[in-house]
Amino acid sequence: MRYSILTLFPGMIKSYISESIIKKALEKNKIELEIVDIRNFTNLAQNQVDDYQFGGGKGMVLMCDPVVKAIESVRTDSSLVILTTPQGKTWNQNFAREIARKQNHLIIVCGHYEGFDERILNYVDIEISIGDYVLTGGELPALIMLDSITRVLPGVISRESHQQDSFENNLLDYPVYTQPRDFRGHNVPEVLLSGHHANIKQWREQQQLIATFNKRPDLIDESKLSKVQLELLKK
Ligand code: ADE
Repeated sequence: MRYSILTLFPGMIKSYISESIIKKALEKNKIELEIVDIRNFTNLAQNQVDDYQFGGGKGMVLMCDPVVKAIESVRTDSSLVILTTPQGKTWNQNFAREIARKQNHLIIVCGHYEGFDERILNYVDIEISIGDYVLTGGELPALIMLDSITRVLPGVISRESHQQDSFENNLLDYPVYTQPRDFRGHNVPEVLLSGHHANIKQWREQQQLIATFNKRPDLIDESKLSKVQLELLKK
């Protein structure tokens, strides 16, 4: 996977990468990453990239010209161009998995806290939000996408680790425990100490369903549950 991140703040991206799983993926040649400074694509004095909005109103708006030129400098026929914005589709594990599987070049344009000229959307394939809150810029959303895609690419972390992730099959992960067996009277469930693999597997599947039902009922489609599963949830 090749990533091109188009940003006004290259340092933010670099500082995260220097400490993360992304760094390992780069070292193992599982990914390529280029960080493109949008300011390199303006012809205006003082590297200007934003301007007042037509019609009046507070705040500076990211201009088309530098952003579109930055996109065009890296885009190929097979690129997918994502723009980070609170108005986009909400990012989730399915997006991460699908992009990891289908794309070979992702361009992420980091939005600007005051907004961007709407005509930039003509050069973008999809707008993505990471949640219903407003951040000061698109760099954190870009890093979140980069991280969540990279960890599901083949060979980056072990396949078992991410197959057990929350949101695989739309279920949360099952609870896990380590030493000690008794922490201040809170005991590790007996089944996990039994060495009985089939029972452990069944318990974990049940716990996934119970955890999802209790914590994220919105993820469960009850019409698709079996009688046994409904019984487990005491429905
Ligand atoms: N830019 C500002 N807020 C954002 C959000 N929630 N998601 C993506 N980009 C953003």
